Order: sequence, then structure tokens, then C-alpha cells
Amino acid sequence: MARARLRLRLLLPPLAALLLFAHLAVAVARLRMEPWGEEEANLRLPSERGVADDAAAEDDAAEAAEGTRWAVLIAGSNGYYNYRHQADVCHAYQIMKRGGLKDENIIVFMYDDIAHNPENPRPGVIINHPQGGDVYAGVPKDYTGKEVNVKNLFAVLLGNKTAVKGGSGKVLDSGPNDHIFIFYSDHGGPGVLGMPTYPYLYGDDLVDVLKKKHAAGTYKSLVFYLEACESGSIFEGLLPNDINVYATTASNADESSWGTYCPGEYPSPPPEYDTCLGDLYSVAWMEDSDVHNLRTESLKQQYNLVKERTSVQHTYYSGSHVMEYGSLELNAHHVFMYMGSNPANDNATFVEDNSLPSFSRSVNQRDADLVYFWQKYRKLAESSPEKNEARKQLLEMMTHRSHVDNSVELIGNLLFGSEEGPRVLKAVRATGEPLVDDWSCLKSMTLVWDILSCNSLPNMRLHFLQVRTFEAQCGSLAQYGMKHMRSFANICNADISAEAMAKVATQACTSIPSNPWSSTHRGFSA
Ligand SMILES: *[C@@H]1O[C@H](CO)[C@@H](O)[C@H](O)[C@H]1NC(C)=O
Ligand SMILES: *[C@@H]1O[C@H](CO)[C@@H](O)[C@H](O)[C@H]1NC(C)=O
Repeated sequence: MARARLRLRLLLPPLAALLLFAHLAVAVARLRMEPWGEEEANLRLPSERGVADDAAAEDDAAEAAEGTRWAVLIAGSNGYYNYRHQADVCHAYQIMKRGGLKDENIIVFMYDDIAHNPENPRPGVIINHPQGGDVYAGVPKDYTGKEVNVKNLFAVLLGNKTAVKGGSGKVLDSGPNDHIFIFYSDHGGPGVLGMPTYPYLYGDDLVDVLKKKHAAGTYKSLVFYLEACESGSIFEGLLPNDINVYATTASNADESSWGTYCPGEYPSPPPEYDTCLGDLYSVAWMEDSDVHNLRTESLKQQYNLVKERTSVQHTYYSGSHVMEYGSLELNAHHVFMYMGSNPANDNATFVEDNSLPSFSRSVNQRDADLVYFWQKYRKLAESSPEKNEARKQLLEMMTHRSHVDNSVELIGNLLFGSEEGPRVLKAVRATGEPLVDDWSCLKSMTLVWDILSCNSLPNMRLHFLQVRTFEAQCGSLAQYGMKHMRSFANICNADISAEAMAKVATQACTSIPSNPWSSTHRGFSA
């Protein structure tokens, strides 16, 4: 009923309304799908642990004892509608803490605008599961607010104290025998990860930092768990297999990752929450780590369990393909080597405990904010000023999305013709190949975009191309627009210059919507 009324009222701006309902229909239909079945997936792993396994666990324990365990946990978003990323990171902290890591060895990046957000129904508390307890208590505030940025992250990873700006100053001051665990959760796009403060984090830069860290000899092995859309593209064709880095990602290079415990899903968050509480891959590894004796569970076993759960019973309908990259042989290590193990789980028997709940439905990362705004809108009283405001927000969001989608499509048509354009932009390279050969080209393409999406005068735009700092002050593709990074990458792969791109983009974007999603609105600058 509410939807019908919304529909009528929105007929005024017909194009925006059409687009709104195209998107909403997808999101809402997804939420209304019948559950896939609530029976838990019966995962079976080798039921007998032999003498060899025990010996391997002891070897791992001995090796772990020689070095220090470190963890770097990063939530790349801000805004209440992105609740889940910071919830994931807080939960991860609790696992490390219970596993025995010391606070001095756990470095947390989170914007920290959730727990005390006026929209949070439980002030001062963050949960990562519908029935879950608080995961916020005790989380160190190493880097918060604007300190959550790429420069600080790289300085922390490289252990460079002088390069860090603000924050606790804690860095990954690791030595050659140490084991490092890194977990990142946020939105992403092909080749790129979000950050609450500009610029984005690019796959090639991240892998370069890992190579530098390896060259400095400041770890023995490193495990990277990455949750983001198209997260496979961060490592695919980039991460070498000889620097002792083992990475798993929530999705392959070409698909979304998924939010979970979202309103309208099963299981749902408590009714007072309008937002998703977690992400599918993230809660899969964390709920596994919560209950198992990690001294006897290998990374490979965890990978398989997480892969299974994130596949949503192999349908991939609202799930994704969890991938592994880098030094795959490291997956024989026990999880304990990186996260320690909660002594309360010492007697947990792996075989009995290995069936994780299988989720019936999840929400595409990119539609999760849509669901939030929709829930908020739905609950407000008819004809209240708040409802009008919420409708305006929904419309603005849809206008931004259609502006981005249409402009990118038009740029493709102008560059390659209307026949070839869509094909070139959507092309996916073969497995094992990186997204783009020339990453600096990709970065300049998005710079062009950022400038164009700004509300500056058209004749000033090309001029700004020369001004590197402009990116930090100007608008962006925003969180949603990251999905188009593959199109930009393919424009680079087709040897289109930044100048040619700028010229075409100026033609394509003659009118820029002056809504907060297209400009510098802080909450949406991924
Ligand atoms: C640490 O960062 C500073 C400032 O960015 C830089 O000058 C210095 O070379 C870096 N040190 C190392 C060891 O990389
Ligand atoms: C594990 O089992 C042993 C032997 O039954 C018992 O003594 C110990 O308290 C148990 N540990 C935990 C953490 O439950």
C-alpha cells in the first residue's frame, strides 16, 4: 500500500520515478523472494583427524610462539546506512582479543560514527548478529574519522611511524618471525576499495605496499581477508605467489558481495534496526572463528566453510564466489597462527560444529543503502515532513544512480559507437589477468570523472584536470559509482587518453544534477 502511494506521488518527475521503481523493484523483489529453505547446510569435512594433523598443529603452534601475531582491521565506510562494515570490524577485534592478541598488536581503522549515531536504536552498542551482543566495547580507537585514509593505512602497514598523521600512532612494527592478519570490509568496485576520506584505495597500490613490506623482511607470513564488491579484482593478476601473502576475497573479480542480516531478510535484524548488521563473507569467517578451536582448524578448512556459506547453497543468487590468491600453500596453516584461539573453544570438536547457518537471502552491497532508505521511508507517518524528506532522499539517490549509469553509457557510445560501446565497457578479461594494464590511466579516468561530477562550471573542468589536489575537494562517483570502474579500466585498455576521455565526458555530462549524491556530500564520498 505504501508502495502504491509512493508510486503515485512520484509520477511528477516521471523519469526519476521510473528509475526509482526499476531499482526498488529489484531490491524489494529480492527481499520478498521465498526463502531458499531454512535447513542448515550440512557441511562435511574430513571427520578423522589423524596423528599427522596433530603434529601439524603442534608445528604451527611452535612457529607461532616464535613470533608475534598482529592484526590490522579496517572499515572503509562511514554513514549509519553502512553500519555493517564497522560492525564487522568490531566483531573481528573481539575475535582477535579473545584469541589472545594484545591491544598493542591490534590496529583498528574505523570512522566511529555508528555507536553514538542518533539513528542507532541501542546507543553505544554495535551488534553484528540479530541476537548478538555488543561488539563495540573495548575496540581501540586507533584511527577514526578523517584519520581513516589510504596514507595512514599504508604508513601503518609499512610500520612507518613518522608518516602517520593523527590517531594513536600505533603501526605494524613487526619483525621477521611475525604473523600478520589484515581484514578489510567496505564497498568496492573493480580494482578499487572505498575509504571514508579520499582518495580510494587502488589494488595496485595495495599490492605494492605488501611487496614493500615483504622486501623489508618484516613478517613471516601474512593473511588478508577482504570483503568488498568485485574484491577478487584487487588481487587477480596482481598478487604474487612468492611473498608469503595468502588472501581470500568475498567475491570474484566480477560480482557483488553481499550484506546480510538485513531488514526483510531471514534472519532479520531486530525490528528497530533499519540497516543490515553484517556482510555475508565477513560474518561467515567470523561466526566460524567464534566457535571453533582455531588450533586445529586450518585456513583451508575455514576457506572451504566460508566459500560454502557465501555461495548460498551454490546458487550464487544472493551470494558470491569466495576466492583465494597468493601463496596458496599457506592455507595449510592453522587459523590459530593468525588469530590465536579462544580458550573457551578448546574442546570444540570441528566435525560436529562445522555446520554454519545457511542464509536464505542477502542484499547486494550496492542495494543495501537503498534498503535502509526504503525502510526509513516506509516507517514514517504519512504526510509528515520527515516522510517528505525521506522521499526526497530516495529520489536523490536514484537520480544520482541514473546520472552515473547514463553518463558512463553515453561516454562508451561516444568513444566506441552505440553498437560497440556497451560491449567494450562490460568486457571482462580472462582469469589471472589484471583488470587494467596501466593503473595510472585508470586513476586519471576517475579523476576526470570526479571533476565532471562536481558542480563546477563546464569550461573550468578541463582546466582542473591539471590540478591534482582538486580530487580531494571535489565530488565523486560516490559509493554506487564504483561499480563502473571496469568501464573506465576498459577505456584505458583501449588506449583512450585522459584528454580524449575528458573531451567526451564533457559532452556526455552537460547537465549535472545538483543533488548531494553527485557532489561532495560527506556521507557518500565512499
Ligand atoms: C616514512 O615516511 C616518511 C614520510 O612520508 C618518509 O620520508 C620516509 O622515507 C619513510 N620511511 C621509510 C623507512 O619508508
Ligand atoms: C575441556 O575438557 C577438559 C576435560 O574434560 C576439561 O577439564 C576442561 O575444563 C575443558 N575445557 C573447557 C574450556 O571447557
